Amino acid sequence: MKKKVVLGLLGVSLDMGTRENRWEKWRPTVSLCQHEDLIIDRYELLYQQRFNNLAKTVTKDIESISPETEVVHSLIEMRDPWDFEEVYGCLHDFARNYDFKDDEEYYVHITTGTHVAQICLFLLTESYHFPAKLIQSSPDKKKKNYAGTYTIIDLDLSRYDKLANRFLVEAVESQDLLKAGISTKDRKFNELIEQIEKVSMRSQAPILLTGPTGAGKSQLAQKIYELRKQKNKLQGNFVEVNCATLRGDAAMSTLFGHKKGSFTGASNDRAGLLKEAENGLLFLDEIGELGLDEQAMLLRALEDKTFLPLGSDTPVKSEFQLICGTNRKLHESVRNKTFRDDLLARINIWDFELPGLKDRAADIAPNIDHELQKFAALSGNLLRFTVESKKEYLNFATSAEAVWAGNFRDLNASIHRMSTLADTARISVDDVHAEISLLKKKWLHTGKEEQVFQLEEFLSEEQIAAIDPFDRPQLANVIRVCKESKSLSQAGRTLFSVSRLTKKVSNDSDRLRKYLAKFGLSWDGLNT
Ligand SMILES: Nc1ncnc2c1ncn2[C@@H]1O[C@H](COP(=O)(O)OP(=O)(O)O)[C@@H](O)[C@H]1O
Ligand SMILES: [Mg+2]
Repeated sequence: MKKKVVLGLLGVSLDMGTRENRWEKWRPTVSLCQHEDLIIDRYELLYQQRFNNLAKTVTKDIESISPETEVVHSLIEMRDPWDFEEVYGCLHDFARNYDFKDDEEYYVHITTGTHVAQICLFLLTESYHFPAKLIQSSPDKKKKNYAGTYTIIDLDLSRYDKLANRFLVEAVESQDLLKAGISTKDRKFNELIEQIEKVSMRSQAPILLTGPTGAGKSQLAQKIYELRKQKNKLQGNFVEVNCATLRGDAAMSTLFGHKKGSFTGASNDRAGLLKEAENGLLFLDEIGELGLDEQAMLLRALEDKTFLPLGSDTPVKSEFQLICGTNRKLHESVRNKTFRDDLLARINIWDFELPGLKDRAADIAPNIDHELQKFAALSGNLLRFTVESKKEYLNFATSAEAVWAGNFRDLNASIHRMSTLADTARISVDDVHAEISLLKKKWLHTGKEEQVFQLEEFLSEEQIAAIDPFDRPQLANVIRVCKESKSLSQAGRTLFSVSRLTKKVSNDSDRLRKYLAKFGLSWDGLNT
């Protein structure tokens, strides 16, 4: 059997009493030693020097009712037992210096001491600074028994784990909000959201969201705002502006406000977005597009919390939280001197890169369902895929052929088109096929290689879309040579300059004619 050791503070009012009638009163420290089913081998009594006399009485009383309990005194010096920092510091020191032994079992008595001390004892036990169970005692309600009752709370038991789990559940709910309720499966993306949730709840420092267009930067900024608002981390508004739309005088005035008459057209005072975002959140989308003058002013606003409206010499104050979005590599912009390095240092304290849809293949399926729901909410029609059509669409959507240049914006539009065009409540295989060719055609133009421009001069979009990407550069090169040559045979000689040397009869013109014909092209067609 391990020795039972109780650690407890002397209860300076509850444990009080020197006269004989003190025995008719519940005194937590003495009473705890009176239970027959709880034999305490040692009681570590913690108290401040000035309660020495009370400690002596309590010790004497314990010895008389429970001779097997050894009472050990420990002095703790705190000036103000209601000062959290001080009390925590004292108890923390005590715990660190205490020689906890394997053959002893520890209980922390949390019934005595100020509420502050009780909270500190709980925290230090929860964090294993006291490797102990908690013990709580209370008087007998019917006053029949002065020993009262006691309860042991073992924080290691799973039912107390549930308390801790509540915090986890809350975090999961917050992550769900950030993900707009879509149960994403991609491990890396989920980890990213976990981090963003933590940072959103624990920090007010600026956040930079990077990633390609349509990756969800704007939506995430809005969700971070909603989460913070829900958890009372801010009171003000969500104010959003796309910096690419800000130019000239209007840029300064939109952001920082202006005085009436400060420029032509300034017929009234204007507060500006930084002021509108006061105590709220400002989302500067496409921050890489902000002009250098505006960058300088923004930096000052972030550092001093003040700025000058256009045409005014009285600084205006505004404190706000900041999120910036960009699809540019801002480090490169710094190198090109189009972005201030000091501003970048200020806004990218937290830098999160949102992946494009292509890098989240596992999330395409849940997002399709989400888009169908969104369409249903808009139109009142919930459409579904058939088993086959879903398979075909998913196959394409997750294949290398699917560029997803506009990321979620493309997926959203694609589902919207199929839902609109479907003739029944099911999106058919035909609907999917039509949509796939449309997407392919669309993406031909995005990030399109030079060859596609060359091909477009002679071929229709449908024709180009039907040519393997493997063949496109070769065909583009053949066309270029044909256009630079005076005759079909000259072009043939250039194009087959190596293999023609090993041939007895040269058939370059014929080979070239046949090659062009494969794509529906002819020498005459190219050179008219
Ligand atoms: N994680 C996401 N899952 C599904 N759809 C999303 C997600 N994030 C954004 N969207 C949708 O994609 C579109 C583009 O998102 P947006 O936040 O404007 O992208 P960005 O600001 O990065 O260009 C919006 O219609 C938005 O509702
Ligand atoms: Mg955006």
